[in-house]
Amino acid sequence: IKEKKMKNKMNKEVLELLNEQIWLENHAMYHYLNLAVEFGNKGFSGISTYFFNQSEEERQHSIKLIKYILDRDEVPTIPQYNYLEPYEETFDVQFHFENSLVQEKKVSEQVFKVINGCRKHNDYTTENFMQWYVAEQQDEESKFKDIIDKLKMVGDSGLGIYQIDSELGGSPQTEETPG
Ligand code: FEO
Repeated sequence: IKEKKMKNKMNKEVLELLNEQIWLENHAMYHYLNLAVEFGNKGFSGISTYFFNQSEEERQHSIKLIKYILDRDEVPTIPQYNYLEPYEETFDVQFHFENSLVQEKKVSEQVFKVINGCRKHNDYTTENFMQWYVAEQQDEESKFKDIIDKLKMVGDSGLGIYQIDSELGGSPQTEETPG
């Protein structure tokens, strides 16, 4: 048996958009890993834990897409490298969260691009699959906005930032593991 399944090829443009989504999720995984190390190095163990968890979630987002493409009898493109932003000279907690929100918005834009591609090519299966990412992005953006609001509230208060660090270190993982 040469082929296990009948090939039901995906539209090339949709496949390309999904591969770009994998690239972004993978980039996000490294972005958060970088932050986990940076915050850990600066003594923010709670925020470091938060970003380690976030990095793991991004890995799951990437794997979920990879598995989906395989299920559709196509071959996903595994990103071979990632460009990582160099650490800022001046360490700024709020900056890193705002920058992460900017990155999440880029991921959301890509999710919408995939869905637009699905609609153009009548790929209802992929469109349905991508709805999970629509909800996930909404959740992630809202989490970052909440943290940024809290950081703005406490300003330069060391005690305030200490409390946020403690909270984030203890915050439970709310997301279900994607299948
Ligand atoms: Fe999976 Fe945070 O984008």
